[in-house]
Amino acid sequence: MVIGVDYYPEHWAKELWVPDADLMQKTGVKLVRMAEFAWSRLEPREGVYDFSWLDEITAVFKERGIHVILGTPTNAPPRWLVEKYPDAVPAGRDGKINPIGIRGHRCYNHPDFLRHAKEIIERMTKRYAQNEAVVAWQIDNELEANFCFCKKCTEKYRAWLKKKYGDLDTINRLYGNEVWSGEYSTWEQIDPPLGNYPAAWLNPAYMLDFNRFASDDMIEYVKMQTEIIRRNCPGAKITTNVWFCENMPDFYRTFAGLDFVSYDNYPPTKLPEDEKEFYSHAFHLDLMRGVKRQNFCVMEELSGGPGCWAPMVRTPYPGMLSGYSLQAFAHGADAVVHFRWRTAVSGAEMYWHGLIDHSNVPGRRFAEFEKLCLAAEELKALVGTRIVSKVAILYSSDNEYAFKIQPQTNGMYYYEQLKLFHEALTKYGVNIDIIGEDEELLGYRLVIAPQMYVTNPEVVRRLYTFVEDGGTVVFTNRSGVKDAYNNCIMEPLPAPYRKLVGCRVLEYDPVGYDNVTIRFLDGAEYRAKQWCDILKPEGEETRVLACYDSEFYKGSAAITENKYGDGTAYYIGTVGERELYIRLVGEILQKCGIDFVEGLPDHVEVTTRSKDGFFARFIFNNTTKAQEFVLDERQVSLQPFEMQVETVKAKQEESFI
Ligand code: GAL
Repeated sequence: MVIGVDYYPEHWAKELWVPDADLMQKTGVKLVRMAEFAWSRLEPREGVYDFSWLDEITAVFKERGIHVILGTPTNAPPRWLVEKYPDAVPAGRDGKINPIGIRGHRCYNHPDFLRHAKEIIERMTKRYAQNEAVVAWQIDNELEANFCFCKKCTEKYRAWLKKKYGDLDTINRLYGNEVWSGEYSTWEQIDPPLGNYPAAWLNPAYMLDFNRFASDDMIEYVKMQTEIIRRNCPGAKITTNVWFCENMPDFYRTFAGLDFVSYDNYPPTKLPEDEKEFYSHAFHLDLMRGVKRQNFCVMEELSGGPGCWAPMVRTPYPGMLSGYSLQAFAHGADAVVHFRWRTAVSGAEMYWHGLIDHSNVPGRRFAEFEKLCLAAEELKALVGTRIVSKVAILYSSDNEYAFKIQPQTNGMYYYEQLKLFHEALTKYGVNIDIIGEDEELLGYRLVIAPQMYVTNPEVVRRLYTFVEDGGTVVFTNRSGVKDAYNNCIMEPLPAPYRKLVGCRVLEYDPVGYDNVTIRFLDGAEYRAKQWCDILKPEGEETRVLACYDSEFYKGSAAITENKYGDGTAYYIGTVGERELYIRLVGEILQKCGIDFVEGLPDHVEVTTRSKDGFFARFIFNNTTKAQEFVLDERQVSLQPFEMQVETVKAKQEESFI
């Protein structure tokens, strides 16, 4: 397993380079990412290039056996470029070009920006094509979907619509533009969502499509860079680093043409006092592994206390820095690159702490990092192992966009139910895949399909077949509500899934922050909130598992189970407290015949990486207190944040690390 660091040679006096590299080598750092913001040092004036410093530092790392990932520097165009082309900076929602930004100040469609971007990538990739130290390329940095509102991007948007729909009549019909006299009669009338109107005031069909365009347009920019890198460096691995940002791109399409997924992982340094509020960053790690359904890289990993744009927060508690890295390995990362080697002494990010503080004296966190590097070395046996899961949670960008556009009710947001299921499954120590909704379901026994709000007919077909063939699917409220264009379907809910779940929604009550009670047949009661679908079972084999126990619909079905073909489909009409999901998931796992671990304490995660009969089991304690439980007949005690990497002699031919 590989540990790396993000390094900014351009921030440091040259005299520091060799001692830094020596210390990295001594510590066990195997990988360094550089240059993603260094355009002004690589091309200080238009057409004047200087790669000498990058050659030099790359050679320093090469001599020490440290591999390099180079970032294309296009996130931060130099001053001379934006001075010459002020409209290369994106435009805001007022349609006006923003003043030069801090970084990320480039419009993906500005022809002169693109010309210069292509030139620097062309030169960089040719220069390092034969350099054995350079093992991969990162495109730009933390790309976001294109929310630039300039004239060029508006034209691209119109062209995207023209290609998708052909004519304005089709757009008017599919968007329902007759509402509020919104019909287009010329293409020039189509604008991106200008003005400060809340998204919910704009036509949801138009907004969803705009989000799709914004993502596709960013992907075109990724493709442009990918083509140059592939042409000049055939065989090189290409990635881009993503995070959960405001203007999310569609991860699946973003990475479709790239070699591996990279994710910037900044788990919290302060854990909530109320453990009920706790939620594990493992959710994001599982989602990232699911994007290409292969192991991934953490390109930026928490190394010190964050701060900068917000007040500084707690420094990582002892064990957190290494613990979170090992947690990433436990969820399918093969490399974890720490952000950053040393904390910047200048620039806006000077309080986003790296491994070494401003003093340049390696301290407590660095000592922990040293231990982590040793541990990663010990984990060699994990090379080639994968996480194999029988359970998948479905994620969809369309649903994420659609819920942002219309949040439904107080407190409801798309990720919540995905996370509730993820947390409940974690309680049983099963490997969990989070995959795109349109992925093949072969090999899974249980599919959790929360809030299948925007309907993709192909996904519906696949879910029917999956259940018919013996699989189990869990659906929830707000499923089958919208067609593919984000308009409501004129059928009883959950419209396309009605037959599969064997029930229909008679009426719904968006209760928001109000609490309701639901009661299972065995008398167990749970609190619920946000949403109540009042269900009417209608299949011959539909069973009611729980009913509402409050409100005017007391006694109506809230949760159902239906036999369909050889499989089973569940429908949960409300949003319950976490214990509800823990109960349901436990029962469902048992019925599906999926092996699970019993009696795990809260917030202890067990995952397994395997290959050809070799199993490596990770046990991760997400809390600050010691936890004790029985696992595979052996007593395992986890001290708070203590790093334990030991090879235990395992029964039969199994190996545990
Ligand atoms: C990331 C970004 C880095 C750095 C880091 C800490 O989102 O990619 O360049 O800014 O956050 O703030």
